[in-house]
Amino acid sequence: MWSRRLLASALVFLSLSSLMLYVLVFKWLGTNQDHLRPQNITILLWHWPFGISHSLKGDVCWSEFGIPGCFLENNRSMFSQADVVVFHYHELWTKRSKLPLHLSRPLRQRWVWLSLESPMNNHNLTAYNGLFNWTMSYRRDADIFVPYGKLVPKTNNSTYLIPRKRNCLVAWAVSNYKEHHRRSKVFQQLKQYIPAELIEVYGHWNGRPLSNKALLPAISQCLFYLAFENSLYRDYITEKLWRNSLQAGSIPVVLGPPRDNYECLVPRNAFIHVNDFRSVKELAAFLKRLASDRQSYKSYFRWHDSHEVKTITDWKERLCTICSHYNRLPTHKVYQDLYNWVNM
Ligand SMILES: *[C@@H]1O[C@H](CO)[C@@H](O)[C@H](O)[C@H]1NC(C)=O
Ligand SMILES: *[C@@H]1O[C@H](CO)[C@@H](O)[C@H](O)[C@H]1NC(C)=O
Ligand SMILES: *[C@@H]1O[C@H](CO)[C@@H](O)[C@H](O)[C@H]1NC(C)=O
Ligand SMILES: *[C@@H]1O[C@H](CO)[C@@H](O)[C@H](O)[C@H]1NC(C)=O
Ligand SMILES: *[C@@H]1O[C@H](CO)[C@@H](O)[C@H](O)[C@H]1NC(C)=O
Repeated sequence: MWSRRLLASALVFLSLSSLMLYVLVFKWLGTNQDHLRPQNITILLWHWPFGISHSLKGDVCWSEFGIPGCFLENNRSMFSQADVVVFHYHELWTKRSKLPLHLSRPLRQRWVWLSLESPMNNHNLTAYNGLFNWTMSYRRDADIFVPYGKLVPKTNNSTYLIPRKRNCLVAWAVSNYKEHHRRSKVFQQLKQYIPAELIEVYGHWNGRPLSNKALLPAISQCLFYLAFENSLYRDYITEKLWRNSLQAGSIPVVLGPPRDNYECLVPRNAFIHVNDFRSVKELAAFLKRLASDRQSYKSYFRWHDSHEVKTITDWKERLCTICSHYNRLPTHKVYQDLYNWVNM
């Protein structure tokens, strides 16, 4: 009697513990598998953004950006082998390109909606509901976040020197000038409080276009740069901040999303926000005061002690980052309401 009971409890114990072991091992395998990505990822770019193509010869992601196992393709015959197919939206809504809806889509293949433009320049989104698995944009909540620039820890010990300034308070580069833009209104008001000889305006609108190479040295001679976005949307912070001001070495005066949005990307004391002031008149007065206070002016450059700007302008680099993010991208996702996502 006793031995039978003992045997029975031993059996129960054994089966319970093996069940537990089984569960544990599979849980471990399962969670680990989530972190594994296919050894090699093939990304097919269906068409080049704005029709400007680049060579994809060789292992571009590895040789140019140090990202392994990530292969970019632009040959559409690779469709059935591609893990990811990327569609730059501009060519879709302008009807220069079409989605390959006639092809059968491998189960594991993800389609990516790519746009770095603000919602103002993304039309007809409802026609594309229920087709894309991932979004790729300047929005921080996109599946693949591709900012126009970022601050990265400094890689060397060189001390930053603020570029030599001449008698110029503010610089602005503008090509697409529209009277109804908020930035145009702010600029016109600013002109009432700052003498014309202290303002430099470059770009097509003013008949003073500068080459990419000449623009930064020109801007850098002014104390401030008007990093005014053409439209005001969450996270829409473009090269006007990263390149034209921070990289040029002029303090950015920003107009765009609210200050706290900028502060997610750059230190609060690295820029001046138009909304910090009750009026443009007060902004102008502040700029003039700062111009005559060397210590305060210099304090806006403190981030240079530890960081430097990295601008991201290369489509190849942006595409390769899909592989860097791959492990944490959602496995099952469909954008049923793309319009709402873009405009929310
Ligand atoms: C990944 O790509 C490299 C380079 O083309 C190749 O040598 C390797 O065999 C590939 N690995 C797999 C698992 O396909
Ligand atoms: C928007 O999509 C609809 C339906 O696909 C199409 O008929 C229309 O021409 C498109 N409009 C634009 C501006 O692309
Ligand atoms: C240090 O880094 C800055 C920014 O990347 C660069 O401009 C500069 O040439 C570098 N200096 C040295 C000594 O490598
Ligand atoms: C940078 O400078 C600090 C202080 O001068 C020094 O301790 C450090 O070793 C330097 N680092 C490099 C990479 O040169
Ligand atoms: C990707 O989106 C398509 C189209 O909506 C959908 O059928 C498919 O299940 C999605 N794939 C994944 C892996 O989420």
